[in-house]
Amino acid sequence: MSRRVAIPLAAGLAAGAVAFAVVVLATDRGEATPAAANAPAAAAPTRVRGRAVFARMGCGSCHTLAAAGSHGVIGPSLDDALARHTRASLRAKVSRPGLGSVMPQDFARRMSPADLDALVDFLAAARRAD
Ligand code: HEC
Repeated sequence: MSRRVAIPLAAGLAAGAVAFAVVVLATDRGEATPAAANAPAAAAPTRVRGRAVFARMGCGSCHTLAAAGSHGVIGPSLDDALARHTRASLRAKVSRPGLGSVMPQDFARRMSPADLDALVDFLAAARRAD
């Protein structure tokens, strides 16, 4: 791996780790809302939850996304990239970023299936807003 790749990689991991730590400290407990989780998923509340998942997982530390108010520059701007994605490809990218990806490999373990659904809903809605 060349140095040009290694430096953003290190920065990305550091940014991701910091964001994750901050978010875990700040909001980990607040997520326990069983009533909301079991409610029939009306679109808007699901997207609100998805936006919160995006923030909690630190996606915004690496990605710019207007709908999330984030300005990360380590990864591609999702304002541009989302148009190339389907719901399935978004789900796959978050769950299995791929070998050698700077993206954290453990998102699938760190979020519940409902969180992942909400995140994909939020991203799909942000894509259509373009
Ligand atoms: C540590 C930095 C980092 C974090 C955190 C991160 N990503 Fe990424 N992401 C990247 C990088 C770098 C790429 C481009 C290389 C690749 O595909 O792995 C990428 C690629 C992507 C892509 C594909 C973009 C394209 O060009 O098609 C999507 C979608 C995406 N990320 C979504 C997310 C979501 C959602 C989260 C949070 C759950 C997240 N990322 C967290 C760094 C990050």
